[in-house]
Amino acid sequence: MTETWPVTLDLHAVEVDEDLIPALKETLLGCEDVSTPVTTALHTADFIEWATRQLTIGPTTAEAGLFDLAILNPPYRKLNTASPECGLLSDVGIAATNLYAAFVALTLRLLVPGGQLVAITPRSFCNGPYFKAFRREILATGSLRRIHVYESRSKAFQDAEVLQENVVLHMVKDAEQGDVIITSSSGGDDEAIRERVVAFATVVSPNDPNSFIHIVADERESAVAGNVRSLAAELGCIGASVSTGKVVDFRAREHLHMEPQVGTVPLLYPVHLRDGRVKWPASNGKKANAIAVNAETRRMFLPTGNYVLVKRFSSKEERRRVVASVLESGDLGTDELAVENHVNVFHHQGSGLPLQLAWGIATYLNSTTVDVFFRQFNGHTQVNATDLRSIRYPSVEQLRTLGHAARDGARDQMTIDMLVDRFVPELNGS
Ligand SMILES: C[S@@+](CC[C@H](N)C(=O)[O-])C[C@H]1O[C@@H](n2cnc3c(N)ncnc32)[C@H](O)[C@@H]1O
Repeated sequence: MTETWPVTLDLHAVEVDEDLIPALKETLLGCEDVSTPVTTALHTADFIEWATRQLTIGPTTAEAGLFDLAILNPPYRKLNTASPECGLLSDVGIAATNLYAAFVALTLRLLVPGGQLVAITPRSFCNGPYFKAFRREILATGSLRRIHVYESRSKAFQDAEVLQENVVLHMVKDAEQGDVIITSSSGGDDEAIRERVVAFATVVSPNDPNSFIHIVADERESAVAGNVRSLAAELGCIGASVSTGKVVDFRAREHLHMEPQVGTVPLLYPVHLRDGRVKWPASNGKKANAIAVNAETRRMFLPTGNYVLVKRFSSKEERRRVVASVLESGDLGTDELAVENHVNVFHHQGSGLPLQLAWGIATYLNSTTVDVFFRQFNGHTQVNATDLRSIRYPSVEQLRTLGHAARDGARDQMTIDMLVDRFVPELNGS
């Protein structure tokens, strides 16, 4: 590939941490000491303030103007909407829920048309509702040329305790979107890099209102994606919906009870979900087992019934991202129950599901195929209701027969996969 490079390089670095400035100055001086004429400028500044100022005063009078190339390894921190950063960002029309997203969105804005950006970030922006505006913004502003994914959740940033996969993005501003190169390796030291070139529509489906970014690193995974997408049904078509548990425990603290008692109903946390079923009450002494019944709490209850419960955060020990359990209507011995916010719940219009359908949904979700598919768009430990809504499901008939066979069977991974293979043949390409 031939690129036209400017004859001189005018290099700008932005860093807020004053302790790093001496080392950074030295690095920049080293950059000036090469044959290509290079001038450097170090801005000891908050990047959000600096970049929004550039954008507000406009490129003609800005101290740095617009850029041809940008490389960034931005910081990660959640931004709440009341933060000063969000105020500055909204002045330039950017909605970002994390510092890294704000840095990438601002940097794209600071590029000239045809300018290029390379950024290393967590993979969490690829899915989930919190990053929807960010995905829309970057996909509208630039074209995706290449994505590298570090598949190990722990290796790439061992020292920073970043427990999620990381990606390196290469984007070109205002360029026509063509195929995307996807490469993957396990961690920073892994020399074995796999590479695929895929149509953009397989990375971001043109029909997906959420603009999820699917990173499918090899052919086997690609076949899995094709098979899952070929399934008959969207969640709504099988008579089920999924929601996040309504009880946010720190807001309902005064109503919580460690032990069930008269005037309470069971409250289900992830700790109650074990081996594909609900084990309630739990005796670990850390989480409440019950919530008081009163006018304030009642609107958060579900009537007794068969539900599928999925942990929103899988623990490090869990092999799969999606961990689904079945609650049967007789399990708790009460007329009502409540679900805590760290659990997603599959229901039918706020009530229970037919028993076999519940078992079928849980067994399908616990399959290796769904796990492989899920990892293609979800690179972190969080499983949102939107993610579960976005995937396709087998038909009601298939789920019922699968559920019937699974209910009394073993619940080890091999048995689950064997049953899913047998009752949903589309998943192995048949
Ligand atoms: C993930 S580190 C990357 C460090 C270095 N660029 C590298 O690639 O190894 C993020 C850097 O951003 C800096 N930083 C954090 N918040 C910042 C802000 N608001 N403005 C500018 N720099 C910031 C940190 O001090 C840190 O040096």
